[in-house]
Amino acid sequence: MTFAVAADSYDRFMGRYSTLLAPQFADLAGVVAEQRVLDVGCGPGALTTELVERLGASNVAAVDPSESFVAAARERHPGVDVQEAPAETLPFADGMFDAALAQLVVHFMADPVAGLKEMARVGGVVAACVWDHQGGQGPLGVFWDAVRTLDPDARDESDLAGAREGHLAELIAQAGIGEIEQTVLAVHVEHECFEEWWEPFTLGVGPAGAHVAHLAPDDRDRLRELCRERLPPAPFTVTARAWAVRGRAG
Ligand SMILES: C[S@@+](CC[C@H](N)C(=O)[O-])C[C@H]1O[C@@H](n2cnc3c(N)ncnc32)[C@H](O)[C@@H]1O
Repeated sequence: MTFAVAADSYDRFMGRYSTLLAPQFADLAGVVAEQRVLDVGCGPGALTTELVERLGASNVAAVDPSESFVAAARERHPGVDVQEAPAETLPFADGMFDAALAQLVVHFMADPVAGLKEMARVGGVVAACVWDHQGGQGPLGVFWDAVRTLDPDARDESDLAGAREGHLAELIAQAGIGEIEQTVLAVHVEHECFEEWWEPFTLGVGPAGAHVAHLAPDDRDRLRELCRERLPPAPFTVTARAWAVRGRAG
């Protein structure tokens, strides 16, 4: 489980990108005041923060299977109903929400179609987004490219569910969800120096962090230096694109 990490490590590694994605993603899902909305795979709460700003804590619920993230989300968002659960078995009654949103989560679900079906069961609008890992346009593109150069057999995130063009729409259609709209969301994050970009990769977060954690020290140094060569001189901006989709439960 590569998300059994401290919330602060997540914030530094992925939260720096996902926080900026959240307002755009909430707009795509049409989240407006007075609705009741579920954040599926909330992590420490990047999207939860945006939902609470729009709806107030009592209209937001969130789930995540990671114990440390659930604890952080509860502490950061008093009044939000945060529960420890995977998307595939949501602990809520049918039709309880106006929308169920999964930001950067479908590719980690054990059964993405079952997870999306559950989201449709409890919500009206269903929305999901996943970085464009297959096109190399996500925030980790330079990293995974360097990994593959050094180890062509390494398993990256490009084959994961929803990480290629059109796949999220296929998955939500398989889940029986209609009125499907697809789009691309993009964020731009400035990094002041290479070390600030690299250091969070060493914190063990997600598949990229797990990859680095399993490297021998010399291999880790080689990977770090190849990334340094391939990134522009600091300060530099990382532009990250995510495939995004919304639909409506039938
Ligand atoms: C990349 S993080 C995204 C967190 C947050 N939504 C954000 O945008 O920052 C992926 C999250 O999905 C969670 N996750 C993994 N498997 C899941 C599942 N089957 N159902 C729901 N969430 C899951 C992880 O614990 C992690 O918090």
